[in-house]
Amino acid sequence: MADLTTDFLGIKSPNPFWLASAPPTDKEYNVRRAFDAGWGGVVWKTLGEAGPPVVNVNGPRYGAIWGADRRLLGLNNIELITDRPLEVNLEEMTRVKRDYPDHALIASIMVPCEEASWKAILPRVAETGADGIELNFGCPHGMSERGMGAAVGQVPEYIQMVAEWCKQYYDQPVIVKLTPNITDIRYPARAAKAGGADAVSLINTVSSITAVNLDTFSPEPSIDGKGSHGGYCGPAVKPIALNMVAEIARDPETHGLPVSGIGGITTWRDAAEYIALGCGNVQVCTAAMTYGFKIVEEMKRGLSQWMDEKGYATIEDFRGRAVPNVTDWQYLNLNYVTKARIDQDACIKCGRCYAACEDTSHQAITMSADRVFDVDDSECVACNLCIDVCPVEECITMERLAPGTTDPRTGRVIPAEHADWTSHPNNPMARAAE
Ligand SMILES: Cc1cc2nc3c(=O)[nH]c(=O)nc-3n(C[C@H](O)[C@H](O)[C@H](O)COP(=O)(O)O)c2cc1C
Ligand code: SF4
Ligand code: SF4
Repeated sequence: MADLTTDFLGIKSPNPFWLASAPPTDKEYNVRRAFDAGWGGVVWKTLGEAGPPVVNVNGPRYGAIWGADRRLLGLNNIELITDRPLEVNLEEMTRVKRDYPDHALIASIMVPCEEASWKAILPRVAETGADGIELNFGCPHGMSERGMGAAVGQVPEYIQMVAEWCKQYYDQPVIVKLTPNITDIRYPARAAKAGGADAVSLINTVSSITAVNLDTFSPEPSIDGKGSHGGYCGPAVKPIALNMVAEIARDPETHGLPVSGIGGITTWRDAAEYIALGCGNVQVCTAAMTYGFKIVEEMKRGLSQWMDEKGYATIEDFRGRAVPNVTDWQYLNLNYVTKARIDQDACIKCGRCYAACEDTSHQAITMSADRVFDVDDSECVACNLCIDVCPVEECITMERLAPGTTDPRTGRVIPAEHADWTSHPNNPMARAAE
């Protein structure tokens, strides 16, 4: 049976599944039940300064995007950081950590971008016995207008500065949580590292408006006829997060920097993908909010079974294995030639592949009078669109043409060796280099 335990920055955890800072980790009641349900760690709902806590709206705070089967694909929220007093949160954290010493408990913090504010809160957090802190430089709404959250995360110099303060005034691991609302994620990650942060976690939520009500003309969620942008998360953001994690993992300046992966993780497979891209653990929010704490059981069981099947005894055995395979477009093998293949037994003759290829791709699918769909290799550019629109899984697959055979589309014999854009005759730079 695979060993799921993790050691992230020296913080031991029974499994890699942590709950991200959000409503599931808002209070002692939730966190105790989460640990009892099997979560390996939690990042407590973000703490603010001492004094009167922030206030949330009293109308709806979520918006959503659903798939055709009403499955939640994306969740938008306009919730702020904790609206409970700092003292109450700290007391609860102390009790929970005392009673669950083998589970990870991280304090998420967001206070003004002033040294005195960080200096004031850090010793108080340290007293709780928390295993580390996560700096919330990510929330894109509400707090960012007050100069916190994403307003800090979008300025690498601020990230570095605050990380340095935290390393100065706190002696446990410091994780910087990054916002995806930035053009190039490598800059904030480099700044976190330069500031001495022990790790980065990503992503926080993506700035978004999920819908506009066409009766009231208010964005959703609507508060008395008005709405404001919120933060988007859930399965829809996973591709954005995976790319950002990969960018950090393969950047020579941050390669090897510990990463906690967040964004749309709903199944064990999602988690395994993040770990394959180098993450030391993962954090989950929307899936727990959608399906409840017990979803972690499936995550743990699925990951463990897959690891057993593959012969991975520990998480470290496959962590980062996908990183060397993430490359720039210019290095992709142009001599890798594939064609679409339709399994006639599986085909339900819906015609979606035909419509897609005929109208928007390369007119490579033929339709007979009795609705038999076939691929014309002399037109197929292997774009994959037919597979993406086909409602039957595995009904269309891509088949590689063996090197040495002729591609009917180009009339060219396919060379066995790798050749990419860097040496292609159409590339002016390659010609210049000759
Ligand atoms: C309602 C809600 C509140 C959140 N509050 C916080 C927060 O206080 N601090 C924080 O760092 N992230 C917060 N997040 C972001 C999550 O921690 C997480 O980064 C994001 O939801 C992506 O993960 P997911 O796709 O699994 O939900 C919140 C998310 C939601 C949905
Ligand atoms: S892979 Fe693209 S070009 Fe080929 S059949 Fe499918 S949709 Fe058409
Ligand atoms: S989309 Fe799939 S199921 Fe539909 S006709 Fe094409 S191959 Fe058959």
